[in-house]
Amino acid sequence: MSLETSLSPQRLVLFLSEIFSAILFFLFLREASLLFIKQKRRFTKPVNLPVVNLDGNNYRAAEESYVTDLITLLKEGREKGVMGDKFFVDVIRPEIPATLKTSLNPKLDWRPFHVYPKCLRMISLISGRIFVGPDLNRDEKWITTNIDFTIDLFRGGEAVRRLPQLLRSAAINLRLVPKVNRMWDQERYAMRVLIPILKQRIKEQTEDPDMDRPKDMLQWIMEYSRSVNPPLSLERQAKTQLILGMSAIHASSIATVNFIYDLMARPEYLKPLREEVDRVWEESNGELDKPAMSKLVKLDSFLKESQRLHPAAHITFDREITNKKGFTLSNGLHLPQHTHYAVASSLIAKNSEPWQNPEEFDGLRCAKLRENPADHSKFHFVSTNPYHSMAFSHGKHACPGRFFAANEIKTIMAYMIRHFDMKPVQGKEKRPESVVFGHNLQPDPSVEILIRKRQEW
Ligand code: HEM
Repeated sequence: MSLETSLSPQRLVLFLSEIFSAILFFLFLREASLLFIKQKRRFTKPVNLPVVNLDGNNYRAAEESYVTDLITLLKEGREKGVMGDKFFVDVIRPEIPATLKTSLNPKLDWRPFHVYPKCLRMISLISGRIFVGPDLNRDEKWITTNIDFTIDLFRGGEAVRRLPQLLRSAAINLRLVPKVNRMWDQERYAMRVLIPILKQRIKEQTEDPDMDRPKDMLQWIMEYSRSVNPPLSLERQAKTQLILGMSAIHASSIATVNFIYDLMARPEYLKPLREEVDRVWEESNGELDKPAMSKLVKLDSFLKESQRLHPAAHITFDREITNKKGFTLSNGLHLPQHTHYAVASSLIAKNSEPWQNPEEFDGLRCAKLRENPADHSKFHFVSTNPYHSMAFSHGKHACPGRFFAANEIKTIMAYMIRHFDMKPVQGKEKRPESVVFGHNLQPDPSVEILIRKRQEW
């Protein structure tokens, strides 16, 4: 038999698939015997993945590792006024024109603007200013790591969920899921960059306890880490930073991209939005401070309507019943322990009460509803309501970053609407459909629009 025949492509494929099947079979046996030996109740084995323990649905472990830290940090930030409007106005807002300039490249002629990657970049830069401070937030490698981590995390989670449950932990531990491998690389990079900064700060602040401390999330994480028992390791602090960046970048970029897609599909809104932005901008001398922000009622309404019809996910309030006795709902339905449930937030957002013609896009819907003094505070972008507004969830665990996100997105959009003309590419006027993966919705990442420096003032 010649060498050529023995290595024919068909035989090679057959050979490789046999090896692959053998590996899978081996992994299966390994997992099954492990489970058998350990007599695990559940047919899963938790795996150390960033953010959520995707395997084993071990939500409690995930919450313990990350969510508790993040919520405390965000709450602390707000209490210190650092995540609040003052810091936003003083520190973040001036950052916006600078970051937008690098992303928007304003010229007098129409230029293509690739919406999704540009928004990811803008949000990453701006959030980075508050998270890691001015030195690192403009570092290209840091920006791309944050963006890639955000993308890989969701895609990696999806790839893992597609595998049979018994094979998941083995596939991850054997590094067979490329997106998960990349996430680990990104984590390692975050540690490499952040740990020396943390060490340097610890040194300086120990030597001079009265020194002015940086006003960024890295600093709060450091301070928070010391206040818990046991203190968070430097590795954990670095990871927390990356995770927080992800929470901030992912959903905020989606909301910004959707805002732009909705505006492009309904150009008639540009005029009323621009009139409002111009008026508020001039009244506040371009400061867009707290009172100014609250006057951007139409912009807020458009953003909420865009999110109502194009949320980042079909569900929210994703929970597991952990109580041994289960939980009985007010209507008598009993949910036993380990039941997983979620709220169909995208359906709730189409409730006919209070939304009339809920399938219809009405960018000024909430602005009109807010005219009624009784409803004045109910229909803000950040307002949550179990009957009609669950995009940020509701209650104790409602998104704590939504105030920051609202300020960030509104400032970006106000800046863009004031300084740039935007229009869809000819023939692409229809609103792009979102891409669905699992219960998540992602705005079409391929869309370009046209943008130029504003011509008429
Ligand atoms: C438009 C942007 C955003 C949307 C739509 C959004 C949406 C959500 C949703 C639906 C939840 C789940 C709550 C639940 O399970 O009940 C959540 C939780 C969370 N979000 Fe956001 N979010 C956004 C921006 C942000 C930002 C900018 C940050 C950080 C600065 C952030 C940090 C968090 C954290 C830490 C949690 C966990 C809260 C908990 O479990 O108690 N989010 N977010």
